[in-house]
Amino acid sequence: MTSTRSGPFAAGDPIEFLQFGKAKPYLVVLKEQGTINVRGHRFPHAELIGLEPGARVTSPQGEEFFLVRPTLARWIESMPRFATTIYPKEAGPILLYADVFPGARVLEAGLGSGGLSLALLRAIGPSGRLFSYDKRDRSLQQGAANVAQWFGEAPSTHTIREADVYEGIPDLDLDRVILDVPEPWQVVPHTQHALRRGGILSAFTPSITQAHAFGNALRDSGRFADLLMLETIQRPWKVGRRSVRPENQSTPNTGFVTFARHVAGKGEAGEASSGERRESAGDPAA
Ligand SMILES: C[S@@+](CC[C@H](N)C(=O)[O-])C[C@H]1O[C@@H](n2cnc3c(N)ncnc32)[C@H](O)[C@@H]1O
Repeated sequence: MTSTRSGPFAAGDPIEFLQFGKAKPYLVVLKEQGTINVRGHRFPHAELIGLEPGARVTSPQGEEFFLVRPTLARWIESMPRFATTIYPKEAGPILLYADVFPGARVLEAGLGSGGLSLALLRAIGPSGRLFSYDKRDRSLQQGAANVAQWFGEAPSTHTIREADVYEGIPDLDLDRVILDVPEPWQVVPHTQHALRRGGILSAFTPSITQAHAFGNALRDSGRFADLLMLETIQRPWKVGRRSVRPENQSTPNTGFVTFARHVAGKGEAGEASSGERRESAGDPAA
């Protein structure tokens, strides 16, 4: 699998041209033939195959670059996309706050460009299972292609379904459900049978009104507790030899991520009978 491969570069590997404190990294997928044009500096693909990561190469104009395999974050930021992808700034918190663990059974919808799928597949590891739903052909194709490009092949832990998640969730015994669809509140009723108790439901929403509607659906269901909604703000800094200052281009607001834990609803098996008070997302004081 490309993401875990070490050793010399091979055709099909994503690689990056780096410089220290100069231009931005340049990402390209290695091919058997052809020429790479790094901002006017040309390198034949064939000459890079077989080089070790970290290799130093010099262009015909005398410019030096270092070659490495990109991080998953960089691949997600640079890979071809049709639908907007969830960027590392949100994918990182999703993995930890949704507590996506090795071996987990996870559903995500929609697949889109496959950005979040990549982060989830890496987190669940070889013993986990990821189900990715989408209802658009183009997303199904682009998402699958981006995932396969990164791993070198379609991972056996990944099941992609053409499905409308608003209609229902056919996959059961899920540990986590992660949504990136316009109306995540439509999915809340389907989690009752598909998401394990104690499991976590999370949604990325570009707008605060969507996040609010989702939070209210969780509250109204009476089956969720520990509601957390957050916005991640990332501020990159430019580190020069004499000055250190924020990058001119600031990262815009991309959206909000909401998390809640699936618990027993009223009258469901598992409800405490002792009258003990349980906090839930339905707390009317909130
Ligand atoms: C913003 S993209 C998802 C991006 C993806 N999370 C990523 O990181 O690359 C939203 C996707 O949801 C899909 N979608 C929208 N409504 C859906 C539904 N009801 N069921 C399944 N997929 C849906 C769209 O086709 C689109 O591909």
